[in-house]
Amino acid sequence: MPVLDLFKLDGRRALVTGGGRGIGRSIALALAEAGADVAVTARTQKQIDAVASEIKGRGRRSLAIPCDVRKTEEVNRCVEKTIADLGGLEILVNNAGILFHNWLVDTSDKSWHDVLDTNLTSAFLFTRAAGKHFIQRKGGNVINLASAAGIAASPRQAPYHASKAGMLLMTKSLALEWNRYNIRVNAIAPGFFDTDMTKPITSSPKMRDEFIKRIPLRRLGKPEEIGPLAVFLASDASSYITGEVVVIDGGVTAY
Ligand SMILES: NC(=O)c1ccc[n+]([C@@H]2O[C@H](COP(=O)([O-])OP(=O)(O)OC[C@H]3O[C@@H](n4cnc5c(N)ncnc54)[C@H](OP(=O)(O)O)[C@@H]3O)[C@@H](O)[C@H]2O)c1
Repeated sequence: MPVLDLFKLDGRRALVTGGGRGIGRSIALALAEAGADVAVTARTQKQIDAVASEIKGRGRRSLAIPCDVRKTEEVNRCVEKTIADLGGLEILVNNAGILFHNWLVDTSDKSWHDVLDTNLTSAFLFTRAAGKHFIQRKGGNVINLASAAGIAASPRQAPYHASKAGMLLMTKSLALEWNRYNIRVNAIAPGFFDTDMTKPITSSPKMRDEFIKRIPLRRLGKPEEIGPLAVFLASDASSYITGEVVVIDGGVTAY
C-alpha cells in the first residue's frame, strides 16, 4: 500500500470530547480531512455546532452532541448516540480538559474534583462506554490528551499535574488490557499551545515572553499542529504503536 494511504481514515467513525474549540476542534477537523465521520461533544452548543458544520463542509458526516463529560449518564448517552447515528465507532479522542492554578492549601474540594473529574474521570467514563463497543467489535483506537504537565511539574498546579500523570498511566494500563481485542490506546502530551486554556497566562506579553523563553523552538504550539499527530495515531500508519505517549512540545521536555 502506498505510504500516504496508511493515514487515510475513510469509513471510520470518531468521537472527540472537548471538540468545540482549541486542540479538540483541530483534531476533529484533521480526522475529518483524513476521511472520518466525526462527532464532537462539549457543553457549549454554539461551538460544537460550528465545528460540526465545518466537518460537514469537508464532505463528512458529523454530530454535535452537548454533554458534560463529568456526568456518567450524559457520557453514556453521548457514546450511544454517536454509535447509533454514525452506525459505529472506531476512534475515541479524550480531549476535554480544564486548567487550574492555585496553591494547594487554598484549593477547595470542589476545585480538586472539578479538575480530576473533567481531565481524568471523563476519560475513564468515555473509554468504558466506548470500550464495550470496541471489545464487541474486536477493534478500536483511543487517543488521550495528556500533557507535558503529566511528565514534568511546576508549582500551583497539583490537581492538573495529578490528572495528566494519571492519564498517562491509565493509557498504558488500558493498552495492556485491550491488546487482545485489537484496541490501541495512546496518549498525546502537548507542551504550551495557543488556546483559550492558556490565554490567562499568555495574554500578558511579559508572561508570554517568559514562557516562550523556556521553549527551545521559541514559540507556542498552534492547535492545528496536533491534528496530524492525531491522524497518525488514529490510522494504520501507527499500527504497531500502543501504550505510547507522544510528546509535542517544541522541545520543552528535552531540557
Ligand atoms: N493548550 C495547551 O497548552 C495544552 C497543553 C497540554 C495539554 N492540553 C490539553 O489539551 C486538551 C484541550 O485543551 P485546549 O487548550 O484546547 O483547551 P480549551 O481551548 O479550553 O478547550 C477545552 C475543551 O474542553 C471542553 N470542556 C471543558 N470542560 C468540559 C466539561 N465539563 N464537559 C464537556 N466539555 C468540557 C470545552 O468545552 P465547554 O467549556 O464548552 O464544555 C472545550 O471544548 C485539554 O485536555 C488540555 O488539558 C492543552
